[in-house]
Amino acid sequence: MALQLGDVAPDFTAGSTKGIIDFHRWLDNSWGVLFSHPADFTPVCTTELGTVSRLQEEFSKRNVKTIALSVDNLESHLKWVVDINETQDTNVSFPIIADPEFKVANLYGMIHPNASDRFTVRSVFIIAPDKKIKLTLTYPASTGRNFEEILRVIDSLQLTSNYAVATPADWKNGEDVVISPSIVDEEIAAKFPKGYTKIKSYLRLTPQPNE
Ligand code: BEZ
Repeated sequence: MALQLGDVAPDFTAGSTKGIIDFHRWLDNSWGVLFSHPADFTPVCTTELGTVSRLQEEFSKRNVKTIALSVDNLESHLKWVVDINETQDTNVSFPIIADPEFKVANLYGMIHPNASDRFTVRSVFIIAPDKKIKLTLTYPASTGRNFEEILRVIDSLQLTSNYAVATPADWKNGEDVVISPSIVDEEIAAKFPKGYTKIKSYLRLTPQPNE
């Protein structure tokens, strides 16, 4: 069965552009973003890795480690990184897993045979410090991902794991959030001292509590 939200992210040991990775040990107490690519030396993947590389400071600020995967071998990855750095104005510092035997790809269900049984699709897994999967995404090979959206989800996950709130459609860090339905009106003053706006009994907005 496919991995579900709340499952423990499967542990593995694999070679990468930064040496052997023992996945859980490598994550340590960080959040993680594990994302797969169809193949090396392909145009969309090249731009995606460049984007993630340029966003490293944003991921680090949020205590997030990023790790990519494609099913090509290490020699190929190392040559490809030279191209990525040259064309994407960056210096890729995070690991790219080499998975020529599809071990990690199969463990995480990154192969979608109706799309291609030879390539991983564009999967994303966001993993919390307790190693549980908090988000899964699957994009087709022809559509590059929006990594600002991944950062936005991480902001939401980190906020909502600490406060009884949820984040509304298109929310961005710093904007008002929704008070969890489990909180009754009488509890709000103590929990959300910045106040709240009641639009409906089930739709109550409050300023972002950690800002
Ligand atoms: C790409 O990354 O550019 C790509 C990979 C596989 C199929 C189509 C595009």
